[in-house]
Amino acid sequence: MQKTVDSAMVSSPVVDFSIHTNTTAEHVVVAVVGLGYVGLPTAVALRQAGHRIVGIDVSARRLDAIRRGEVELLSEECEALSRHLEGDGFVLTEQMQALDAADVVLVCVPTPIDQQLQPDPRILREACAAVVRHARPGQTLVLTSTTYVGTTRELLVQPLARRGLDVGEDVFVAFSPERIDPGVEGHEQLGTPRVMGGVTEACAERAEAVLAHTCKHVHRVSSPEAAEMVKLYENTFRAVNIALAFEMAEACQAYQLDPVEVTDGAATKPYGFLAHYPSAGVGGHCIGVDPYYLLGPLRERGRPALLAEEALRKVSGRPRHIAWRAHELLTRSGRPLKDARVLLVGASYKPGVADTREAPAVEIIERLRAEGAHVDYYDPLVPSLTIDGDTLHGVRVDLRGDGPNIGRGETVKVGSYDLAILATLHPGHDYGWIARCPAVLDCTYRTPGGKTRYLP
Ligand SMILES: NC(=O)c1ccc[n+]([C@@H]2O[C@H](COP(=O)([O-])OP(=O)(O)OC[C@H]3O[C@@H](n4cnc5c(N)ncnc54)[C@H](O)[C@@H]3O)[C@@H](O)[C@H]2O)c1
Repeated sequence: MQKTVDSAMVSSPVVDFSIHTNTTAEHVVVAVVGLGYVGLPTAVALRQAGHRIVGIDVSARRLDAIRRGEVELLSEECEALSRHLEGDGFVLTEQMQALDAADVVLVCVPTPIDQQLQPDPRILREACAAVVRHARPGQTLVLTSTTYVGTTRELLVQPLARRGLDVGEDVFVAFSPERIDPGVEGHEQLGTPRVMGGVTEACAERAEAVLAHTCKHVHRVSSPEAAEMVKLYENTFRAVNIALAFEMAEACQAYQLDPVEVTDGAATKPYGFLAHYPSAGVGGHCIGVDPYYLLGPLRERGRPALLAEEALRKVSGRPRHIAWRAHELLTRSGRPLKDARVLLVGASYKPGVADTREAPAVEIIERLRAEGAHVDYYDPLVPSLTIDGDTLHGVRVDLRGDGPNIGRGETVKVGSYDLAILATLHPGHDYGWIARCPAVLDCTYRTPGGKTRYLP
């Protein structure tokens, strides 16, 4: 019997690739929806493996940046990208209709939280709805965005069924979260295993055939739900351990011990311990965000995860604690915040990256400015920063008149600050000048500080 599939599907393709129907063929057309930190390197890896790529992003600005090569890729990925963009196997477009040309679709769009720390899956819903609208028999659809348990079935499998497309027979659906760790050598996408759960065995087979080109190996779990939970567990594990690292740092201080020395000592145990170090807080798109995709839904089900909730409170309160500590130190030294000059060192959320999304430094600066302090920042990777609608330019530090040349900010003398707060120090940059700062609040716990050194 002929199957009825509603007709939102294939119209005239906006991408001029011949349409493949056999997704187990060695080289296929892969559409990557969302070309951000995750989607873009994934698209490059798949093109390197010989697949043809339709890169789809709703942001014309992002697509232009990609065309100009102004993106946060490793240098070899950047070179590969520009080579591929010159050829005809890597197309960039804003049009969802380009999905029609794809044998495989990877969804890599953001999954943020709202002001109340609740999951905000609107972007994901919209992207999945478009993928479902354009789905056609033979396609393999893989969701990679971090999300709540049950998403793959709710946003792909059920709507596809409503269109008359049976998953496992007509189309193939899997969930496979991304583990990219931007800026950390040795954690490259291609060298990291990847978890995947298909809706059926056939779904898993087809998804694995493509995903194998983006990672070290594919570890299959029994369902999309298990794969969704794996990702939430991984990042909740990180958040809980980071909260514990903050607590242990305070415990070490109670005994005047160095938490880095203690953690390094514990890390010599070859099993049962995984080192986490204290810092100014967490940032980026993952650790401070993803666990809420577990905690909110669990609470709704009447099964709150109390330990993880408490850890998340500790993690999200860390920048507030650092700002309070700065306030306390300045007040104690007879300098009220409203008259104080503070230098925040390191605006990005972790060493080696320029990304300031959710960076603790941003909240610390906001809080100190709200109390009337004059706050400058120094970060060799971040030329400017928007705080409360104001654009701040990173200062240059005066080192015998030839300081690091960053941003358009003024050149400053470090001795003029009442307090320097060390949030993030990037590898390969000279921070010897910190020793000349009169007072340093060292949230890295790793420097000798300035003339006086304080810990959070
Ligand atoms: N950044 C990381 O280190 C990292 C690591 C592992 C997992 N993740 C997860 O991967 C997912 C993507 O994160 P990211 O960091 O790449 O996000 P991102 O913000 O860097 O990029 C997402 C891109 O998707 C585009 N987009 C938004 N809506 C779209 C739509 N409807 N159709 C097409 N494009 C759309 C945006 O314009 C943007 O360019 C998230 O779920 C995140 O939690 C991120």
